[in-house]
Amino acid sequence: MSGETFNTKPLPGASFGGLIAVDDGHRFVEAVEARPEALPAAMDTHGGFLLIRGLHAISDHAELLVRLSHPFGAEVEDYAQTSNRSNLLHPEHSQIIRISNLAPMNFDPPELPDPPRLPDGGLPVQFPQRRGWHTDQSFRRPPPDVSLFYAHQPSPKGQGQTLYADGVGAYEALPLRLKAIADELQGIHVAPFKGYGEDEIEAGKPLQVLNERDGPQPQPVVRIHPVTGKKALYLCEREQMDWVHGPFVGMEPGLHGDGAKLLYELMTHFTADAFTYAHDWDASDLVIYDNRCLIHTATWFDAQNVGRVMWRTTVWGNPGPLYEGEQRSWEAA
Ligand SMILES: [Fe+2]
Repeated sequence: MSGETFNTKPLPGASFGGLIAVDDGHRFVEAVEARPEALPAAMDTHGGFLLIRGLHAISDHAELLVRLSHPFGAEVEDYAQTSNRSNLLHPEHSQIIRISNLAPMNFDPPELPDPPRLPDGGLPVQFPQRRGWHTDQSFRRPPPDVSLFYAHQPSPKGQGQTLYADGVGAYEALPLRLKAIADELQGIHVAPFKGYGEDEIEAGKPLQVLNERDGPQPQPVVRIHPVTGKKALYLCEREQMDWVHGPFVGMEPGLHGDGAKLLYELMTHFTADAFTYAHDWDASDLVIYDNRCLIHTATWFDAQNVGRVMWRTTVWGNPGPLYEGEQRSWEAA
């Protein structure tokens, strides 16, 4: 760290992102807290993505994760207030949600069959072969700006990767025709597994009554990042778009409408190799990602035979102008 707060290098194997290698976890956290603007600035400089490696020397990882979350926004989400899945929360730090297949969380991940390997043995990444691309909690208003995702107990290498796609690069490379359309468009986002998702409609599942936290929530398809000023695509697919009323405001709705065709075209472009990165986790890796300009998805892991425990915090910060009469949705009862 010599002189600077820390060194950030470009992330190997990606067109975006930064890598910070930490020798001494305690010193790193102290350095971040001494200059709290430095870590968010590094994230902004590196396209909204930081991978921090070497935190394993820290004994209290949970406290560390909460402390590293604070510089990223006005408020670290307290899931005790915003989630009714109390079994998912860290017992001492309710700002941490545990995403795991292990008890006592009893979180049953949806079946995520891994797409067949590509002919060259590569990992399928691009939509629609790879599904589940989303930005965290886009069905809320405001959605969280930043998520911090920590590998407490990752699945073995080659399983349970997290894939990320760069909304800025994808937007800038759009053909002018699609840029013009996307600039004016709003997507309709909804909480997953409430019956409004693409697969659920196909399966004939009934629509659940949505509470205020679940949407449907219109969001601009192109967002201007409040710090960098760059435009980024902001879209989800499958279970996190409302395929009953959308996926887009003002376009033909439903699974086979003009809106669906456009979403497929945009998502296929968004998740092309040029804009994506696949992260294979090591224990104690921390990835910090900006939900305003990146989307992500998970790959399959053998949940019957291996355990995986990931911790996540989300940080609020920059809701932008609220709609008239709107409350912050995460404060709603
Ligand atoms: Fe996510």
